[in-house]
Amino acid sequence: MSLAEQRAEFEFTAFGGPAGAEVTGLDLSVPLDAAAREAILEAFLAHHVLVFRDQDLTPEAQHAFTLNFGELENHVIRLADGKPPPLVHIISNLDADGQPTAKPYSHGNYFWHTDKSYHAIPSLATLLHAREVPPAGGDTLFANTARAYDRLDAATKARIADLRVEHSWEASRANTGNRPATEEEKRERPPVVHPLVRTHPESGAKCLYLGMHSSHIVGMDHEEGRALLAELQDHATRDDLVYVHEWRPGDLVMWDNRCTMHRADANYDMAAHRRVLHRTVVKGTAAPA
Ligand code: OGA
Ligand code: MN
Repeated sequence: MSLAEQRAEFEFTAFGGPAGAEVTGLDLSVPLDAAAREAILEAFLAHHVLVFRDQDLTPEAQHAFTLNFGELENHVIRLADGKPPPLVHIISNLDADGQPTAKPYSHGNYFWHTDKSYHAIPSLATLLHAREVPPAGGDTLFANTARAYDRLDAATKARIADLRVEHSWEASRANTGNRPATEEEKRERPPVVHPLVRTHPESGAKCLYLGMHSSHIVGMDHEEGRALLAELQDHATRDDLVYVHEWRPGDLVMWDNRCTMHRADANYDMAAHRRVLHRTVVKGTAAPA
């Protein structure tokens, strides 16, 4: 199929819920032209989560596709051999012997978060490409944090308008019951502060910014601040604000970390079924207010 024919067929279908649109008829292993890239960016801003169906990308092709949207992010985590993961890395439930396990190396993804909010300039987008998925379950949930902000009452909006939140790798590890951050990790990723209400740099929408990497509200009693964060997170992750992505093999899902939170759902037999996804992350460009 020529690129022109392929373009004629490529289409977006919004899911009609709080986030998400499906993209069909596009082969992401073929370099994008400017018009296709623009169309994807427009849909990305409108729908926050894009689901490209029926892809079969090598890591190199996923890397090349990701470069359409910015620079790739590196990672603080080290693999079992002490090395940093490659830029296209693997999210899976496999153990060191390649067998499915109910206790994967890191289970942090099962808690609500927005990627790398412990960076001064957090990630813009994340791309996950399903290579092997369970027959059912193993979903990823996405919450629309712009809509969550909109749905707050006026008094709450006024109360939280100027609040700032400390996020850190150390808090993230503690919040998720993972092994504590090492001294080296803490040096590499010192705590950062973000507004609780961030303005999306492209859409201008105000979004709640919280999740598992957050520690406390600056200048507020620690427990009081954490209780407020928990209350806002419960509000933001109500069913009507969440799109549940049920994976099909070949899906490539790209989401906007600036106006969504996400988490994996352990709604499958993790010890029995393989769940293997290839991941790339696009660096943010500026710290939105
Ligand atoms: C991620 C992530 C969730 C999942 O890759 O950033 O949180 O469902 N993944 O694997
Ligand atoms: Mn994540």
